[in-house]
Amino acid sequence: MMRVPKKLVSFWGKGGVGKTTLSSAVAVSLSKMGYRTYLLSSDFVPSLQDVLGVELSREPLELSENLVVDQLFEEKVIEMWKERFGEEVYRVASSIFPVGREIIDYVAGAPGIVEEFTLYYIYELYRNEDFDVLVWDTMATGGGLRMLRIEKEFYDHLGEAVKLYLRVKGVIDRIRTGSEDPLKLIESWRELAQKVLDFLRGSHHVASLVSRSLPVDYYVATRVYRELLEFGIPVKMLFVNMVSGSAEENLYFKKFYDSFGEKLTLLRVPRVDPSPRGIDSLSKLLEKNDVDTILSLLEG
Ligand SMILES: Nc1ncnc2c1ncn2[C@@H]1O[C@H](COP(=O)(O)OP(=O)(O)OP(=O)(O)O)[C@@H](O)[C@H]1O
Ligand SMILES: [Mg+2]
Repeated sequence: MMRVPKKLVSFWGKGGVGKTTLSSAVAVSLSKMGYRTYLLSSDFVPSLQDVLGVELSREPLELSENLVVDQLFEEKVIEMWKERFGEEVYRVASSIFPVGREIIDYVAGAPGIVEEFTLYYIYELYRNEDFDVLVWDTMATGGGLRMLRIEKEFYDHLGEAVKLYLRVKGVIDRIRTGSEDPLKLIESWRELAQKVLDFLRGSHHVASLVSRSLPVDYYVATRVYRELLEFGIPVKMLFVNMVSGSAEENLYFKKFYDSFGEKLTLLRVPRVDPSPRGIDSLSKLLEKNDVDTILSLLEG
């Protein structure tokens, strides 16, 4: 086994195409080969536990040798957000308006905060935890892409916030009592948002698309591919999942091949019966060839 520089493998795609199943299968296969693997699901509709066949709580679980499993729950994300940013938000807000600490709960409940902080959580996890590969099961298309859009908007808005802040600064200086410079805090949030986006755009990130070999799935996958690219995240793998060999599936597999065969690594995964549940059946879902292909991407 070759030690790889830390990698992030993420799974994107339409609802129900097999993101959770394939991220679990990839994580199980890698961990069996000796790679220290961290499997994270940021889908707040948790299904990781059903696919793995284990009960998951709020704390990461060491499922087997080299495999840690972590399911993000929304309340936990909000709590972590408050811990990390609550005080800073209070300091900035209270330097401008006469507000109490209830502003922290108010902002924590604002739309977009959870998505934005989920990305921050993954960024920090990747930097701080000790593993070879972080396998990330994202939420279905709508939620996954929304998360990226929000991070980008957050970044842009913070730029505006700095301008606004400077405009009212004269007034603030007269009424302010604290010593902390809120401008510095706002700027630090903006830098962080930029770092999170850069992190997702880096070459250590192996973004993977999952689709079934069917018409609507094909069109959605094509759009997700394009949208990720527009964010500066090139998709490197495409799993065409649940192929059972019907005429329509063969036709659409060929379409996938013609559209993406030269741009990325394409893997075909059969529909198995019964559907994969638990470590044992997950470890058999991918062919040895497929695992080698994935490894060559991780090592490259
Ligand atoms: N290769 C396969 N063969 C047979 N069944 C599969 C296969 N891949 C996935 N499934 C089944 O298809 C269903 C959807 O899979 P999964 O939950 O992994 O999709 P998902 O993309 O994570 O869905 P969601 O968008 O809801 O999170 C599950 O019942 C799963 O067991
Ligand atoms: Mg899922």
